[in-house]
Amino acid sequence: MAGRIYLSPPDLSGHELQYIQDAVASNWIAPFGPQLDTFTHTLKQITGSAYVEPVNSGTSAIHLALLALGISTGDLVFCPTFTFAASVFPVLYQHAIPVFIDSESDTWNMDPDLLEQAILDAIEQKLPVKAIVLVHIYGFPAQLDRITAIAQKYNLYLIEDAAESLGTTYKDRQTGTFGDIGVLSFNGNKIVTGGNGGAVLTNDPLLLEKVSKLANQAKENKPYYEHAEIGYNYRMCNINAAIALGQLEQLSEKIEKKKKIRDWYSTHLKGFAEVKTTIQGIDNAWLTCIELPASVTPDHIISCLEKENIESRRLWNPMHNQPVFKQYQAYRNGCADSIFSSGLCLPSGTRLIEEDIIHITDIMKRSL
Ligand SMILES: Cc1ncc(COP(=O)(O)O)c(C=O)c1O
Repeated sequence: MAGRIYLSPPDLSGHELQYIQDAVASNWIAPFGPQLDTFTHTLKQITGSAYVEPVNSGTSAIHLALLALGISTGDLVFCPTFTFAASVFPVLYQHAIPVFIDSESDTWNMDPDLLEQAILDAIEQKLPVKAIVLVHIYGFPAQLDRITAIAQKYNLYLIEDAAESLGTTYKDRQTGTFGDIGVLSFNGNKIVTGGNGGAVLTNDPLLLEKVSKLANQAKENKPYYEHAEIGYNYRMCNINAAIALGQLEQLSEKIEKKKKIRDWYSTHLKGFAEVKTTIQGIDNAWLTCIELPASVTPDHIISCLEKENIESRRLWNPMHNQPVFKQYQAYRNGCADSIFSSGLCLPSGTRLIEEDIIHITDIMKRSL
């Protein structure tokens, strides 16, 4: 096998180059332009979201969501512990307080029972409960019915971090469209990438207006510069949108190929490791994740693959284990720690062929 096998490299096999050339030729190298407009329109069509604001990262999209919903100092925001830190950092940008909720083993996402317990405890202590950041980790849809019902029951805002789940559906609806605001990421390892990028999804025109203004330095609608509040430069550049547009046009083919890769892993890892799939909805199969038997550690497999120039990675290390979050409360049941200690992400780039998967899984099996 020639060259390194990466975990989730970009696959620029559509009209990306043509769209970049169009953007350069027409001189639209700015946070405006025809490619950005088409990208936004296409994203609306694919997600079914009434409004879409393209931004420069998933992290800034989450920050904008919190800002637009008025989350501020001392507010409690319930977040999953099993996620990437970027789901939670913006909560701290706002000086709000994250409360971590463990996973349930079926979906690996936020456990609704623990969530409700955490909310009730906070209400009893008269703490300002404000919002839930719900993540669809590795593209697996969370328990949306139960969690949207809990958000409504306790009058909490729901922000869906769908950074990893573009194309995932739950009851025939795209993830990211169930909450008050949904968030997408288009960074380099996502199923659709613009190099960098993100998006805010909402069905509420007032929220869209707030998000849009804050992302654009909070400029008032005046014929001169006026700023009545603090703004941010979070806009997406037309060049990133040109790349992301070329990618977005191939979303269904990418999902189909990712599923094929996961099926190949299932076949070739039979009896060795369990390949995780969704138990509900239709996921995007972004990264193939496995759980290893107790007899073998993820670090051992990672180093055996690394010797053959193959990248693999541990699953997310829960937020309650992160030094930066150590002062915050976590409602735990052991699930996220258990997934972290036995799980692994395997190379899932859409250019892989079955021969690559046989090569990777042979190394894994030989490593025992
Ligand atoms: C679950 C999750 N949330 C948020 C983010 C942040 O997205 P970005 O890297 O575009 O800022 C990512 C990806 O990096 C992610 O995986």
